[in-house]
Amino acid sequence: MAATSSSTASSLALIAQDMLQVDEVIAQRLDSSVPLVGQVARYIISAGGKRLRPALLLLACGALGYQGAQRFNIAAVIEFIHTATLLHDDVVDESTLRRGRPTANESFGNPASVLVGDFLHSRAFQMMVDADDMRIMQILSEATNVIAEGEVQQLMNTHDASLSEAGYLQVIRSKTAKLFEASTRLAAVLAGSPAAVEDACADYGQALGTAFQVIDDVLDYDGDASEMGKNLGDDLREGKVTLPLIIAMQRGSDAQRQLIRDAIEAGATDELASVIAIVKETGALDATREAAAAQARLALDAAAQLPDNAHTAALRELASQLLERRV
Ligand code: IPE
Ligand code: IPE
Ligand code: MG
Ligand code: MG
Ligand code: MG
Repeated sequence: MAATSSSTASSLALIAQDMLQVDEVIAQRLDSSVPLVGQVARYIISAGGKRLRPALLLLACGALGYQGAQRFNIAAVIEFIHTATLLHDDVVDESTLRRGRPTANESFGNPASVLVGDFLHSRAFQMMVDADDMRIMQILSEATNVIAEGEVQQLMNTHDASLSEAGYLQVIRSKTAKLFEASTRLAAVLAGSPAAVEDACADYGQALGTAFQVIDDVLDYDGDASEMGKNLGDDLREGKVTLPLIIAMQRGSDAQRQLIRDAIEAGATDELASVIAIVKETGALDATREAAAAQARLALDAAAQLPDNAHTAALRELASQLLERRV
């Protein structure tokens, strides 16, 4: 299982008890009379994962003074939606390693992964109905829809070496940042906060989620598979154009640009070592990390508008620690 860094652990200490409650809800709501559902769902969920999105919701609830039990339910809903997207994502990306284990598609096959992903999605919707709040359903139904749109947009962009930074950003805002945004926005909705506070929460989540995906895209070239619990090079193999490649193509020589373009168009990893060398040599990885840092600063600006307390300090800390993440 991929470990959480100790510094991240310290900012999460405030909600350690709450997270146990979320885990309990998760375990309870995996029930199904069909054994394969529980088997596949428990396979991926018991492998851990950082549980970052529920943690953000709980920290934001703490920052806004909301202590109702509905936060555990909604945090579990968000983790179910996230897990469903991972089950589908690994099929689409043909990935073989996740959370330090063979992916569910590798272990159980694509049909089981897709169908159990659908189960988790629909279970999440059953659970959000329990909250009996139209705003909550509106936010989560929009988020799931935008995530799906982002994944489809990304599919359309594959093998297109001319993808712009704006096009890249649009995809990651949708496929990743939207669920972070929903997590922190929902805390404000649960807390009954005024619109300005809800917007600050949403801005924080969106910026943090964007930074998170930008770093994920760096790690696909510069990470350690055993630390991350997933393989490097998946993005290039898929012909997925991410910021490290966009910047390397801007900065590289004609020959370097051509090599990257060919690799994107072919979606082959035989040139992975050369591509990694180019993204490092051109400073593209550092520049990509800087782009993530700029998003983290936006998250800090948004957090400055929240009540000044220990939970908000933990949200700020997470934004800084994210840039160092290796998992
Ligand atoms: C993986 O998310 C998908 C991305 C948005 C990059 P996480 O890195 O949060 O996955 P887990 O839940 O910790 O495994
Ligand atoms: C994030 O993108 C996927 C979702 C938000 C569903 P990736 O495809 O890069 O995620 P990983 O690297 O497989 O976790
Ligand atoms: Mg993937
Ligand atoms: Mg993907
Ligand atoms: Mg990735």
